[in-house]
Amino acid sequence: MNESDFVGRDVVSIWDFSREELEFIFDRTSEIEKSGSPRTLEGKLVALLFYEPSTRTHSTFEVAAQRLGCATTGFSAPDKSSVAKGETLHDTIRMYEGYGADCIVVRHNLMGASRFAAEVASVPLISGGDGSREHPTQAMVDLYAMRKTFGKIDGLRVGILGDLKYGRTASSLCYGLSNYDVEISLIAPDLLAARKETLAALAKKGVKVRSTSDVKDVLGSLDVLYVTRIQKERIPDPTEYERVRGLYKVDLELLRQGKKGLKVMHPLPRLDELANEIDGTEYAGYFTQAAAGVPLRMALLRMVVS
Ligand code: NCD
Repeated sequence: MNESDFVGRDVVSIWDFSREELEFIFDRTSEIEKSGSPRTLEGKLVALLFYEPSTRTHSTFEVAAQRLGCATTGFSAPDKSSVAKGETLHDTIRMYEGYGADCIVVRHNLMGASRFAAEVASVPLISGGDGSREHPTQAMVDLYAMRKTFGKIDGLRVGILGDLKYGRTASSLCYGLSNYDVEISLIAPDLLAARKETLAALAKKGVKVRSTSDVKDVLGSLDVLYVTRIQKERIPDPTEYERVRGLYKVDLELLRQGKKGLKVMHPLPRLDELANEIDGTEYAGYFTQAAAGVPLRMALLRMVVS
């Protein structure tokens, strides 16, 4: 396998990448982390079309593009673009292609929007997360951070806590982890439990899965506790949100019941589900995880943009 094998590839689902391809991307990421990258995309243009708020995904794509010598354009809030006037995703993609974009990154509230955009675009389309199911590059960042912290992903026991129903990072991570020999504990209040399709996908891949609503049932065995926020904006019924709000919180007192070496990860942003007191401790893996977003997205851009 070499980098040119990826030229022109869309990145719309973590399912589109084999374990070997993921490992290849992680090897490139690690090289970039250690020694940087030549500015191989000098003169290229990446369009960042963000129909939903973002801090990390937008900024890391921007920084990654700039470090490769590439310019960026686009919008980070649909209310500031013609989207607010009703312009379709189709037309917007065609516009940015016309302006010479060599790659387009789309974040959207609707599931399937990136796949649709990829069909419209003739240049590589990367999803920056869509709807409540897929956030492929975040899953890559998460897997890479696990590999970096523990040396390998095989053998890990990973607990995924929080909004497993509406959180796209949680389901994308589950799909990504299913390429490895891992044990996954799905920890969520009943109303936010993983969707049937996620469970079915994990079962089909033969992944060992435990489900519980109480983190203490599984904490003692975990290497990684991946915490997610409740996706208030995706819960259709406000009364449903009120019923789950504040139902789980990870703090030092809880983590001390875990095993030695336990790492807490979080795609961020955090609200009240992850206590700030963890930040300076050996449990905190989330800032290193977030920082890996730049080299990983550099590796991806370098590979897919010709
Ligand atoms: C996540 C997202 O947008 O799905 N953010 C991110 O990209 N790190 C997580 C979230 O919003 O909860």
